[in-house]
Amino acid sequence: MHTKIKTQYFTATSLDGFIATENDSLDWLFPLGDLNDSSYPEFISDVGALAMGSATYEWMVRNAKKVAAETGFAWPYTQPAWIFSSRKLTMIEGANIRFVNGDVDHAYAQMRVAASTKNIWIVGGGDLAGQFYDAGLLDELIIQVGSATLGKGKPLFPRRVLSPVLRLVSVHQMGAGMAELGYEVHKGGVSGAA
Ligand SMILES: NC(=O)c1ccc[n+]([C@@H]2O[C@H](COP(=O)([O-])OP(=O)(O)OC[C@H]3O[C@@H](n4cnc5c(N)ncnc54)[C@H](OP(=O)(O)O)[C@@H]3O)[C@@H](O)[C@H]2O)c1
Repeated sequence: MHTKIKTQYFTATSLDGFIATENDSLDWLFPLGDLNDSSYPEFISDVGALAMGSATYEWMVRNAKKVAAETGFAWPYTQPAWIFSSRKLTMIEGANIRFVNGDVDHAYAQMRVAASTKNIWIVGGGDLAGQFYDAGLLDELIIQVGSATLGKGKPLFPRRVLSPVLRLVSVHQMGAGMAELGYEVHKGGVSGAA
């Protein structure tokens, strides 16, 4: 049987729901756990296209040397990527990326074709994942919740989504520093007002 192609928001968050500090630092995140202890290795092997907003992309641009030292490439993804921005951004050399602006539906149609039988990864940030959710296109959230609070920062998912829309389908402890939670988005459910 053919497994369903999914659109997944896979990210790490602080315990109080922030994916980065207010000035886009991720330094708090790295000591909490190793990505290889999460479902990432299996997850990424099933990803055929990915999307990110400009702040996430610009973090990659700023940290290209660090990323290259760790992964061997300034741009670590082999899958085609859609970068959402209303501005003209610096291109990372050799990266398989295209810049898009506006409705997620249009980019989604292109991503779907590119991903073929694989999944679509919404890398972040939270509002971009929210835009896919608003359009009825988000199927799963896979969230590593870190044992740290930030007080303020960039939000995990700035939407009001009430029970029973999100269904917890997996829980995995990653030592003392993180827990990975998997949620399915139940499309027939009720969504709260903004
Ligand atoms: N904890 C983690 O695992 C994790 C994962 C991913 C990201 N992050 C971090 O979290 C932070 C996320 O930043 P963020 O919340 O600001 O989100 P973001 O999605 O990375 O960037 C938001 C910006 O993207 C552009 N954008 C979004 N939707 C658009 C659309 N439909 N059309 C055109 N442009 C659009 C807009 O900027 P412009 O139009 O001005 O370009 C918007 O201000 C970054 O620091 C990133 O490094 C952390």
